[in-house]
Amino acid sequence: LQTLPPIRLAEKYFRIFPDERDPLWQNPCHDKRHKDIWSKEKTCDRLPKFLVIGPQKTGSTALHAFLSLHPAITASFSSPVTFEEVQFFSGPNYLRGIDWYMDFFPVPSNVSTDFLFEKSANYFDTEVVPKRAAALLPRAKIITILINPADRAYSWYQHQRAHQDPVALNYTFHQVISAGPSSPAALLTLHRRCLQPGYYSTHVEHWLQCYQPNQLLIVDGLQLRSNPAQVMDSVQKFLGVVPFNYTQALMFDESKGFWCQRLDAGRSRCLGKSKGRKYPDMSPESRAFLSEHYREQNVELLRLLKRLGQPLPTWLRDELHNSS
Ligand code: A3P
Repeated sequence: LQTLPPIRLAEKYFRIFPDERDPLWQNPCHDKRHKDIWSKEKTCDRLPKFLVIGPQKTGSTALHAFLSLHPAITASFSSPVTFEEVQFFSGPNYLRGIDWYMDFFPVPSNVSTDFLFEKSANYFDTEVVPKRAAALLPRAKIITILINPADRAYSWYQHQRAHQDPVALNYTFHQVISAGPSSPAALLTLHRRCLQPGYYSTHVEHWLQCYQPNQLLIVDGLQLRSNPAQVMDSVQKFLGVVPFNYTQALMFDESKGFWCQRLDAGRSRCLGKSKGRKYPDMSPESRAFLSEHYREQNVELLRLLKRLGQPLPTWLRDELHNSS
């Protein structure tokens, strides 16, 4: 038997097994050998029972806010670094390990009835996430929200402009979506970031490689916007939580133009200014371009939803009807 000091041993190990350089965290309580060496002070209960995975600009903050009103549902603490979202599975935070992740969750007062969750909107379209999430949270439920990918792309572009992204400020939406190989590199990067999350069927298939179909709920983001109480009822059913009355808890705020939390005396609490922005309608030219651009993916999504037996969002029906 040969041995070496720890760092040299690790170097040697990773020379022999280079694929193992990237960790894949599992739940220590799912394996007796791991549990036996896991500190007695620690618990595996500070992990989410479900994830809201986005994508960005589909209403994920509204869903997060509505879920948080439910007495049995508790969101992760917000991260001061990554714009409130934990973004554990999708980026460098993953290397911080599961203790870092668990610190974002309270110890549940009742493990069987309390539902912890986190929402990170970039999980949906980051390819490595489903594999990592399924390794740590194999029994978790997964919620994604989809709106017409053309509207999502446009909302995202407006979001970049509102955040003073110099490239988004410099180019029109149409220039961004129609950029090609000869376009400047910065424009191409923005083009990809704008359009790539909208390849819904590809991304959903990645999740289905790691989770069973009955663990995944696809929420119609347009319906979440127009009739959130109905959507929240289906979300509650999917999660198996004690029903909470969202018809009472929410109200439509005329000045915001969106559904908000109902407070006393006819007052409401809405999401901040960055959610539900006002901007001009998308030009018919850009809409036609994106209908064509996303057509194949939308057709695939339709097939996939039929295969899963999940309801078809109205925007998807309309989109394919109008573009056929
Ligand atoms: P816009 O600001 O472009 O209208 P996300 O939270 O995933 O980034 O999504 C933001 C989008 O959520 C907003 O995009 C808005 O259209 C939509 N949304 C849906 N329901 C909402 C609500 N009740 N309040 C505010 N925005 C809501």
